[in-house]
Amino acid sequence: MPVGIIGLGRLGGALARGLGRVGGQEVYAYSRTAATAAQVVADAPGVRLLATAAEVFERCDVVFVWMYASDARRVLAANAELLARRQPFLVSSTPDAGFGEFSPRWAEALPNVSLSTGLGVTLLTWGAQPAEADRAAVLAPLLACGEVYEGTAAEVEAWRALTSNGPALYARALECWADTVARRHGIDRELCRDMVRRTVAGTIALQDEDGIDAAEVIRRVAHPGGSTERGLRVLDGSIEELSDGVVRALTGS
Ligand SMILES: NC(=O)c1ccc[n+]([C@@H]2O[C@H](COP(=O)([O-])OP(=O)(O)OC[C@H]3O[C@@H](n4cnc5c(N)ncnc54)[C@H](OP(=O)(O)O)[C@@H]3O)[C@@H](O)[C@H]2O)c1
Repeated sequence: MPVGIIGLGRLGGALARGLGRVGGQEVYAYSRTAATAAQVVADAPGVRLLATAAEVFERCDVVFVWMYASDARRVLAANAELLARRQPFLVSSTPDAGFGEFSPRWAEALPNVSLSTGLGVTLLTWGAQPAEADRAAVLAPLLACGEVYEGTAAEVEAWRALTSNGPALYARALECWADTVARRHGIDRELCRDMVRRTVAGTIALQDEDGIDAAEVIRRVAHPGGSTERGLRVLDGSIEELSDGVVRALTGS
């Protein structure tokens, strides 16, 4: 079943690259700026560029229209007759995109930029209860690029702080950690950043493999009265308040 992507920006481009990476799916794409589109597709073998959004809607049964909601609605409105006839399954990349006005088959996704790596996370709210075949057709390309969590609009609104905003905040926090060690000890900054990323990847793999929470990781690392305990005391003194402030800023509550 051919899949379409309209809007090859940070998210649409990540989906195209992720699908290009795994292959095996017929993917057609269109974006407004030819140069950007050509660049994305160069990194996404097998993804074929089309000249208009209409051609994507004609060829594909599932179309990810991944751009700002106002732009997306303009593209859909310009193709309203075609959409009414073809009724493709439309997937937005924002909540409240209003795609139901253009096709009875629609869903709202909140993806993240890591889809290009195959380790992305997408949150999904279905417009109406999808037919099993529709659900499978929408999930297949997203699952090829990572994990999918299906939830209500209210759930997705809370989860987005973790998965959509998450990469920016996690990357910033980790880099800050590495840069502090580099600065205080006069060590190469890039080396420190690399060590942090590898250590975090290993910690996550360990937690996943052994099914353990942070308390168990701490138990395996810390010695009574040792440096880990001292560091944790400082971290525990401010991390809950910091997390609370960041989450409030992200979600408004
Ligand atoms: N970035 C994230 O991590 C993230 C996460 C979750 C949700 N979102 C939401 O997803 C939406 C898109 O975000 P983004 O970060 O991917 O934005 P973006 O990088 O600005 O990409 C939007 C793309 O839309 C394309 N576009 C605009 N008008 C078009 C038209 N008429 N026809 C075809 N293509 C058109 C642009 O294409 P050209 O470049 O070809 O001009 C642009 O690349 C936003 O609403 C954002 O809030 C973003």
